[in-house]
Amino acid sequence: MTPNDPTFQPAAQTDEELLNAHEALLAKQPDDRAHYKLMPLALLFFFSGLILFAATYLNRYSGHFDKTIYDENALPTDHNVEVKIDPVVFGKQLFASSGACVTCHQASGQGVPGTYPPLAGSEWVNGPDERVISIVLYGLQGTVHVTSKSFNAAVMPSFGPSGFNWSDEKIADVLTYVRQEWGNKASAVTADQVAAVRAKDGAHTAWTEPDLLQIK
Ligand code: HEC
Repeated sequence: MTPNDPTFQPAAQTDEELLNAHEALLAKQPDDRAHYKLMPLALLFFFSGLILFAATYLNRYSGHFDKTIYDENALPTDHNVEVKIDPVVFGKQLFASSGACVTCHQASGQGVPGTYPPLAGSEWVNGPDERVISIVLYGLQGTVHVTSKSFNAAVMPSFGPSGFNWSDEKIADVLTYVRQEWGNKASAVTADQVAAVRAKDGAHTAWTEPDLLQIK
């Protein structure tokens, strides 16, 4: 009589059945990898083409991700693109602005005989940079000789700290204009040059001819 206890159940499989089962498991297994499908070649070309298109598009239209090149959300005041105006064009406007050089030296650059000396053909305008920068920054008084005529009727006002207080840029540009107009052929003046004279002379008073001639 067999007790009704699972531990006393007879083996489910005979030795032969076990051996067969192992043999089946140890036998060559079917190749599962053979069931994967290769990506269709057309799809590969499609995605490659897409990537190529995207890269070309970015390269062409990204604007190098520079906000000043294209930003649809930018307000007009956000535009801080620096536009460099031709110093000669800007200088001409400054020269002719109200109360500036044109008032005394005239649009022709000829000045007013006996009162305002000419800038056209002037040895001061066409002379050393520092002299002409000094004249405009600090002004000029006393007798001055220009194109072998002498002037002492009026005073040249300062366009620097003690006068109209123009920036280095403005003084540089007006001089650049004056030095190439009316047949003058002197080099352009830069804001850095004006800044250097300003730094050196500080709160200088109006120059006189003898002092200016010391500047080489
Ligand atoms: C209010 C009249 C007046 C204005 C404005 C004026 N100047 Fe003069 N400028 C004179 C007078 C007067 C002299 C001669 C001063 C003297 O006799 O010592 C002179 C002399 C000069 C000289 C040296 C002499 C010569 O003729 O080359 C230069 C350069 C010059 N001015 C440039 C300028 C420039 C550039 C401006 C404008 C940024 C200007 N001046 C604005 C009256 C003026």
